[in-house]
Amino acid sequence: MSLSANDQKQLDDFLERLQQAAALEIGYPVAFDFDYRALTPFLSFSLNNAGDPFMPMTYLLNSHEFEQEVVAFFAELTRAPPEQWWGYVTNGSTEGNLYGLYLARELLPDGIVYFSQDSHYSVAKNLHFLNMRHIMIRAQPNGEIDYEDLRETLRIRRDAPPVIFANIGTTMKEARDDIAVIRAILDELAIERRYIHCDAALCGGYAALLEPRPAWDFEDGADSIAISGHKFIGAPIPCGITLARRRHVERIGHSVAYIGSVDTTISGSRNGYTPLLLWYAIRSLGVEGLRRRIADALAVADYAERRFNAIGVTAWRNPQALTVVFPQPPDAVCAKWQLATAGGASHIICMPHVRREQIDALIADIQRAGGARSA
Ligand SMILES: Cc1ncc(COP(=O)(O)O)c(C=O)c1O
Repeated sequence: MSLSANDQKQLDDFLERLQQAAALEIGYPVAFDFDYRALTPFLSFSLNNAGDPFMPMTYLLNSHEFEQEVVAFFAELTRAPPEQWWGYVTNGSTEGNLYGLYLARELLPDGIVYFSQDSHYSVAKNLHFLNMRHIMIRAQPNGEIDYEDLRETLRIRRDAPPVIFANIGTTMKEARDDIAVIRAILDELAIERRYIHCDAALCGGYAALLEPRPAWDFEDGADSIAISGHKFIGAPIPCGITLARRRHVERIGHSVAYIGSVDTTISGSRNGYTPLLLWYAIRSLGVEGLRRRIADALAVADYAERRFNAIGVTAWRNPQALTVVFPQPPDAVCAKWQLATAGGASHIICMPHVRREQIDALIADIQRAGGARSA
């Protein structure tokens, strides 16, 4: 395979544009501080992880053994009950959330899904795919679900079992719904048939390492959890991990002769390269490396919050969050720094690659542009 000079130039220009854009990327929940060059030789193979990662497969160019280790690592981080969990590497949390909701629907076909108005936009799409009844619950100003609104809504809909879609880090404010509080509400209302799915797209990479530890995992009562791999862990290809209680998954799998495996996943052909990336990251960093990364990133978030406030821009963040929220700066600043904005508020997300010098440069741009809009 080779390219014409023109096509090569197109690629070279693209690389240059990417390098420039990456230097100014502090607005989205993706970490760039990785180096996976050791995995380049594996790009020469058509890796495909179709089917259940824990079952043998007829096609041998798969990375199931690495996928198993990756999901086992996250099963431990999420305190999944030993031997009683199952999981696989997904294309990201949109798929992981679809999977969790799918399991919930199979378990509770008459269920109603409750999710907060600050949930990711893909949740509405997933519910539409699955044709599940749902009710949106108010969010508090910090982005956390409004527990009173949830309690009241559950109380009047006791005829249908609830499927709670909890956010463990909302997209705009990184708010975490407390599933211990949610469970207490369900207990108080004597609701026994229920399902809790945790969308831990961003925070799933480090929530287990926070002190105090948020209530979000299997021991806290989750039935399934979705985590993005390209967010806190960091990967050049979108990916994620989904985990669920084994008994829920056993309801949906069926054996497929063509692949010689069990079809328990959403996609047929599945990426065999992303499990290698995640495996490389967790093996080289280990839990201690992840702990250091989150501590450093939180220190940068703290620095950013203080720097904004020092120039008179009211910035805030949720406890132990990497996301710093502030009034929307002028458009040119938002465009340059790729700042996501909603309802007059913007944010930066201090992922592990974000450096204090970038914060300083953003602050200088905001000052030059005359400050942020008023809150
Ligand atoms: C809270 C939340 N849930 C789900 C998603 C979707 O995750 P993915 O991009 O991995 O599909 C995101 C993405 O930003 C998110 O912030």
